Amino acid sequence: MARPALSVIPQDIVSAADYERHANEHIEATAWAYLQGGAADELTLSANVNAWRNCKLLPRLLADVRGGHTRFTLFGDTFAHPIILAPVATQRLFHPEGEAASALAANVMGGVAVVSTQASISLEDIANQAQGALWFQLYWQGSREATLALMRRAELAGYRALIITLDAPISGVRNREQRAGFKVHETFTKVNAQPPSIPLSFEASQSVVFDGFMQLAPVWSDVEWLISQTKLPILLKGILHPDDAVKGVAAGAAGIVVSNHGGRVLDTMPSTFEVLPFIVKAVNGALPIVVDGGIRRGTDIIKARALGATAVMIGRPYIHALATAGALGVAHLIRLLREELEIAMALSGCKTLDDIKPEILYN
Ligand code: FNR
Ligand code: LAC
Repeated sequence: MARPALSVIPQDIVSAADYERHANEHIEATAWAYLQGGAADELTLSANVNAWRNCKLLPRLLADVRGGHTRFTLFGDTFAHPIILAPVATQRLFHPEGEAASALAANVMGGVAVVSTQASISLEDIANQAQGALWFQLYWQGSREATLALMRRAELAGYRALIITLDAPISGVRNREQRAGFKVHETFTKVNAQPPSIPLSFEASQSVVFDGFMQLAPVWSDVEWLISQTKLPILLKGILHPDDAVKGVAAGAAGIVVSNHGGRVLDTMPSTFEVLPFIVKAVNGALPIVVDGGIRRGTDIIKARALGATAVMIGRPYIHALATAGALGVAHLIRLLREELEIAMALSGCKTLDDIKPEILYN
């Protein structure tokens, strides 16, 4: 049995990795497989983490960084630091307060959380309790009408930006989950939207993938149409190919999220660290770029900025903190990462995020 979350932070938690170690005791084994796992052989999952770690920093000395800070402004909101909480589904699997606790922690720490379509608390309830800006992550709902209806709910509830996730029209080959016998609890997945139904039986000649799930998947014209239906900024999540980034710009996106879904969808894709420079080049300053996948340290964040990202998102690390110590844990983790970033900036001679240049990287 998993142990309930703690109400004080143990002294031995001083990094994201410490939260991961503790979280194991606070999460049921099947939910742990869901959280930690990636697709198939989990090669992209580990590539994400290793790529940031393996990149080296070579800073210059004696810069005057007095009065430095980590603030930045995006879509009209100013945030205290560039650490965004990525959309993660069904957070009540990990803590009774789920998404409400994560959103509170993000806001209290001067940042923003992205609420998943598959949240385990309704998007309106999370927004009503929010202490600051929130973004909503939109999964295509099988038709234009259903997707538009969900978007309108997010607009009405006051979400400040939308992220459409494009890289998971179908779940990946989740062998770790399969081995553990994980099934998302029914009452957790359907809070915001009834998943679009696919036919239940197929002829031998038919494919559950092509004749089932992919019948309900969006194409570029749908995304372009959706963007035209709202005044909210829309970011496209899951972009890895420079040509898709260019298509996103042309479709009217307000931002690009370079992501491989934390290695959970298609295995053997490159790490986000590897592809980020190509996307930055293709977008050529037209839009802000957010990157996620394997960010575990402040040094990872400074590297992401050096490669041209505006902000980073973290996924699994804040769920580890949530499971270990609820909102307090998430706020503490954000604090740790922000302090690590500040130290990395100070020791790299960077007073502001804009001072972080590719020259601080050793290659
Ligand atoms: C996710 N992710 C995700 N993405 C999304 O757009 N909608 C979602 O509902 C979810 N759900 C989800 C559940 C779980 C358990 C995980 C671990 C991830 C992907 C997430 O937003 C993000 O891209 C990755 O988690 C980033 O990688 P790291 O930080 O976990 O390495
Ligand atoms: C996942 C889906 C919910 O990664 O995006 O589990």
